Amino acid sequence: MLLRDAWYIAAWADEISGEQPLARRICNEPIVLFRDGTGRAAALADRCCHRAAPLSMGIVVEEGIQCGYHGLIIDGSGRCVRIPGQKQIPADARVQSYRAVEKDRLVWVWMGNPAKADTAGIVDFPYHNDPGKWPNKHDVYPIKANYMLMVDNLMDLTHLGYLHAKTVGGNPAAHVEAEMKTVRTPTGVKFTRWMRNSVPPPTYVKAAGFKGRVDRWQEFEFVAPSSVLQWTGAADTGAGAYEGKRDGGFQFRLFHGLTPETETSCYYFWSVANGYRQDEPEATEQLYQEIAPTFVEDRVMVEAQQARMSELGEAGLVDIASDATRMQMRRMVERLIAGEQTGNAAE
Ligand code: FES
Ligand SMILES: [Fe+2]
Repeated sequence: MLLRDAWYIAAWADEISGEQPLARRICNEPIVLFRDGTGRAAALADRCCHRAAPLSMGIVVEEGIQCGYHGLIIDGSGRCVRIPGQKQIPADARVQSYRAVEKDRLVWVWMGNPAKADTAGIVDFPYHNDPGKWPNKHDVYPIKANYMLMVDNLMDLTHLGYLHAKTVGGNPAAHVEAEMKTVRTPTGVKFTRWMRNSVPPPTYVKAAGFKGRVDRWQEFEFVAPSSVLQWTGAADTGAGAYEGKRDGGFQFRLFHGLTPETETSCYYFWSVANGYRQDEPEATEQLYQEIAPTFVEDRVMVEAQQARMSELGEAGLVDIASDATRMQMRRMVERLIAGEQTGNAAE
């Protein structure tokens, strides 16, 4: 069951530009994204109101999107504004539109009940707009797995020592034994992990030139239903990072946003922001090049996991200690889905 009353990321803002519309499927619905004449991002059902051709096969024109089949033009609100060879436009010539909001370089859409679409609920990630302090790069990966499996992945970092041993991983035991503190937030759950006096992983050594052991932290904030805001860094052991002196050392921020495409596929929107060698574009590029293969490792594992779940189901799977935060996250999303169901039933 997919939660529909939620803001989901439809695209990076820079994916929507020019003449070519962008096709995406969100919560099982085909959507077309484009910018109207004023530059505003629009999201419509990807189905022409004439003969159901996908609008994404058309082109973006001044007044809206022009269907590639017989040339109807639909504006950003979904209204048909031109029919070739015909003056009269039927009042019911319209395409379903979705609320689309651009914020912090992401385009968010609301797939549920429009009356409940409150923009205050859109995740804040201002670092995307601060290239001076947080130079950043971003990407989107299509993943053949339910989006919650990717959120699970981010909520149980004991996988780092095994799945990412060659990159950001490091010693598996250090991960399993990390000091972990979890707190509830108004919109989700946040956990901080400390690996004090640990051997820095290869990525960190490459980026920051650590010579000895480090105190390493990972702060993960889950914002329901499917965003994770990460702040990570390390400093020489005993330099005071644990006590709060985390400025100036090696640190970066990651944004993770998962959008359900179908029950068994999703989009993984992610970015990495360099918070330690901000004046060196090569450092940002290097960080990105180091992180990207890590997420490919996640994708490969989670897609394989989905394949097994689709084939054999989930009966007989056990939860272990490291699942605690992941389960809190799952319960929150389940509550949201239950609330949405009750609300819909009442209406
Ligand atoms: S199907 Fe779109 S104009 Fe005919
Ligand atoms: Fe991972």
